[in-house]
Amino acid sequence: MNQPSHHVAVFGAGYIGLVAGACFAELGHSVTVRDIQPERISTLRAGSVPLYEPGLEPLITRNRERLHFTLDADEAVRDAEVVYVCVDTPPTASGDADLSRVWAVIDALKGASHLAAVVMKSTVPVGTGARIRTALDSVGLGHVPYASNPEFTAEGQAVEDFLRPDRVVIGTDDEAAAKLLRDLHRGVDGPIEIMDVASAEMVKLTANALLATRISFTNEIAALCEATGADITRVTRATGMDHRLGPYFMRAGLGYGGSCFPKDSRALRALASNSGFSFQLLSAVIDVNDLQPRRAVKRLSQELAGLAGRTVTLLGMTFKPGTDDMREAPSTVVAARLLAEGARVRCWDPVAPPCHGEPWASTERCSDLAEAFTDADAALIVTEWPHLREADWRRLRGLMRGAVLFDGRNLMAPEEMRELGYTYLSVGRPS
Ligand code: UGA
Repeated sequence: MNQPSHHVAVFGAGYIGLVAGACFAELGHSVTVRDIQPERISTLRAGSVPLYEPGLEPLITRNRERLHFTLDADEAVRDAEVVYVCVDTPPTASGDADLSRVWAVIDALKGASHLAAVVMKSTVPVGTGARIRTALDSVGLGHVPYASNPEFTAEGQAVEDFLRPDRVVIGTDDEAAAKLLRDLHRGVDGPIEIMDVASAEMVKLTANALLATRISFTNEIAALCEATGADITRVTRATGMDHRLGPYFMRAGLGYGGSCFPKDSRALRALASNSGFSFQLLSAVIDVNDLQPRRAVKRLSQELAGLAGRTVTLLGMTFKPGTDDMREAPSTVVAARLLAEGARVRCWDPVAPPCHGEPWASTERCSDLAEAFTDADAALIVTEWPHLREADWRRLRGLMRGAVLFDGRNLMAPEEMRELGYTYLSVGRPS
């Protein structure tokens, strides 16, 4: 690859940092990833990847010579031209983003006056750029250019999204930093949009909030479909054929989860409220999403004439297939509601890590589908793992005590399931 290569320090070895680090190495740059968790760094140094993300492990292995992992901030920064901030910005109780890890990174950069840019990839509230400028100034780095380069990759397809994005957004008021970041992305197959910092920060939150809005809107239409006998899959398919709307993010289900949509929509609402107005549409989107898993439990309870003493199996625990991420997974809300109503809860998932604490401590983890279905009164598809499509549903039906199958992701064909003897419910399709 004939391109200038750069030294990049990535702070944070989570989904975002590891994917960005591995992809920059793939593009020919030398990358040092720094994290504060010793187990994480030792796992990476030993050649393993501490999280499940398709395509990431081979990418890290292939670029091992250009990828370094360290606990030491000074070591990471020593030869770096660019520092990428990829740390967690979890929500506080009020919905604001907790930026303490970001400030810790800026503190750790003290003395790194050789840097050509500090770049934010973590999702932060609009206006954070201005605060970071002040923070950089206070550690003697007032002259170092700052840029926002928000991440639009989705878990489970992050490597592909990074290398072939719909767009790369770079927000900076410094021409040299913009040029450096363009160089850094040479080889990435997608357009680059350069803008000011605040707009770049706003693009990220706007995109996630709009996608979340489509999902909640679809879930509301699904509820109306249930009330009127219409079929949401037909409705969304034909609606999405309008090129102005497109078919994406119109899958009805148990609501959106994950580390991004719930957090970012609350952060945008908090930003609006801190700016003196109430973002009513976004509040409704969030409320609908909070309600969605509860609606499913209510329907299940009606079908079983009460949940007390019933055995309910949850199929899929992660917030979506293709990831081991349990953050804000609808399964957690469903499990907690079922337990609160006195059900006995079993769960199955092909990759979810052992889950500790409530509600998982009170559920029974099954290692295979046969175990999960044996003597169950009902099964609820929470996450659309492809394994479920391929399962032997006839055999599983024979293992159950009851017959209720609630397909919370509209994964299966209703007629087929009914023919096999299931009392089949789904979201927004005629029952
Ligand atoms: C999301 C965005 O898709 C990425 O563009 C963004 O970069 C990322 O957040 C982020 O901010 O870092 P992700 O959270 O990995 O990515 O997952 P998605 O595939 O977008 O799914 C989010 C949730 O929405 C899942 O719970 C999924 O089941 C649900 N969903 C998605 C639906 O219920 N219906 C749909 O039609 C689509």
